[in-house]
Amino acid sequence: MIEETIWHPVALATGLTGQPLAAHLLGHEVVLWRDEAGAVHAWADQCPHRGAKLSLGRVENGQLECPYHGWQFAASGQCVKVPALPNFTPPAAHCARTYAAQEAYGLVWVRLSGGDAADSAALPAFAAEADARLRKLNCGPYDVATSAPRLVENFLDMSHFGFVHEGWLGMRGASAIEDYRVEATPTGLLATRCKAWQPQSNVHSIAPAQVEYSYEVTAPYSAVLTKVPEAATVSVDGYRESIAMFISPMTPEHSRVWFRLAVADFVSPDDKLRDFQHTIFMQDKPVLESQRPQRLPLDLRAELHTAADKASSAYRRHLKNLGINFGVC
Ligand code: FES
Ligand code: CO
Repeated sequence: MIEETIWHPVALATGLTGQPLAAHLLGHEVVLWRDEAGAVHAWADQCPHRGAKLSLGRVENGQLECPYHGWQFAASGQCVKVPALPNFTPPAAHCARTYAAQEAYGLVWVRLSGGDAADSAALPAFAAEADARLRKLNCGPYDVATSAPRLVENFLDMSHFGFVHEGWLGMRGASAIEDYRVEATPTGLLATRCKAWQPQSNVHSIAPAQVEYSYEVTAPYSAVLTKVPEAATVSVDGYRESIAMFISPMTPEHSRVWFRLAVADFVSPDDKLRDFQHTIFMQDKPVLESQRPQRLPLDLRAELHTAADKASSAYRRHLKNLGINFGVC
């Protein structure tokens, strides 16, 4: 499956401390843990001895210890100790099933196949991350009973603002969508000149304003929204605030979502910035969970499309071309 060769977020990096953590990814049970050097590891959450969940065990001296018979596994996955046989040296075949893992954007990322190398180049891009003039913080996780592609589509969709986010990101009386541009990119698509009339576009808004966004699909289950500054306010090396949506496809119809905010505001407390994002997403969640089917139909004849939906139509074509199977129908 192509999905298994792609990096996916599985947990907040700050949530993975001394003890192992269970995660679900693409229908697999995964255990996450940190060694003494602080490096993250992701393995199949199943002991190769008798199949117990390693996530119920503990980290001892930089090794992961199974909860059942206490076998200890080194960071490489190799079993280094079988307590029932103190003089036994476990052979190379006594090892846990390991996956590639790395930290980025405040999250732990896992790739189920394609080697152990932590190649950060293959992560979904988030250009704002490297901009020191922007403050970064994570929001979430949110567990949502729908597929990852339904979440991406909702993130790209502006024509729901006046209804789902009435009084916040839109108004029902001003919900017409001006034509916008969509172009295909190697990672998905880029939609530009997306304009909306917004009563309260962010935590600082004091008056309704016309807001322009661009949206980029950066991986099958990741997207970035960038607020295009009004021309009059752009400095020579003007920065652009962005929000990334990173989704963990846990099962075909259950997803865990984080938002990575990159904002110019270094003053407001974290909670204030998160509260705004939280309010907006809580408005989306019940509608998202009501959609049937929960998996995204890739046959364009399965649902109805208009010109206002051309970003989502392009996204469906992209997933189909890639051969994505998980979370689609
Ligand atoms: Fe893990 Fe026996 S099942 S040590
Ligand atoms: Co919404």
